[in-house]
Amino acid sequence: MPRFLRAGAEGCSRGAQPEPCGGGEGVPRCTVGVTPGGRLVAVKVHRVGRTSFRGTRRVRVYVADKRHTSWLYQSRLAARSEFEALNILWKAGVAVPEPLDWNRHVVVTGYVEGVELSEVPELEDPKGVLDRVLVEVEKAFKAGVVHGDLSEYNVLVTEGEGVVLIDWPQWFSSTHPQAELYLRRDVENVASFFRRKYGVEVDPEALAEEFLRRVRG
Ligand SMILES: Nc1ncnc2c1ncn2[C@@H]1O[C@H](COP(=O)(O)OP(=O)(O)OP(=O)(O)O)[C@@H](O)[C@H]1O
Ligand SMILES: [Mg+2]
Repeated sequence: MPRFLRAGAEGCSRGAQPEPCGGGEGVPRCTVGVTPGGRLVAVKVHRVGRTSFRGTRRVRVYVADKRHTSWLYQSRLAARSEFEALNILWKAGVAVPEPLDWNRHVVVTGYVEGVELSEVPELEDPKGVLDRVLVEVEKAFKAGVVHGDLSEYNVLVTEGEGVVLIDWPQWFSSTHPQAELYLRRDVENVASFFRRKYGVEVDPEALAEEFLRRVRG
């Protein structure tokens, strides 16, 4: 197992008690647990309005009804929205965690053995990893889903430099009037990261333009 994956695995205890896995400051957002059947799962507790924003502005499209703005209500909508996206994506064969259940503001997915792209110290084939991300983004779009907050923080790199796209509560339908805008931003975000960190020779804007032309068909 590559060193960075071992480090990631150490960060998530496999004991019976859920332990933090990845994510924000203070209250852990995601914990790893074990089902009675012995399966490792990721348990994500949504806390809308109490999160760290990490630079990318999040567009909370699921809060349409202004009368219900309690954080628990919003967080419940976020959990439901994420679970809905994951179901569509998983069925379409997009590389996302397997959706298992949701309740109130909590979503349970299959645990992915991987490390956030932002934390990976080195990659053997950065261009290949970027291409793999873009293949999944394209599959998602064709399945009807645009991520809307894609960045190096929401891609897990697995053994063999595979990718899994996570963190979908803010997703947009591919038919949403702004879908192309968000799709363009998602593609530019990841491409810029690969250019900045790994020196991949890519023009993010041109790449996004070409990507959009292709997926529009
Ligand atoms: N299915 C999973 N398997 C393994 N790790 C996961 C899984 N889902 C989430 N994580 C870990 O938890 C972190 C936070 O999850 P996610 O990106 O979905 O939430 P977030 O809203 O960005 O939370 P935060 O703001 O705390 O980072 C991820 O970056 C990843 O390290
Ligand atoms: Mg995230």
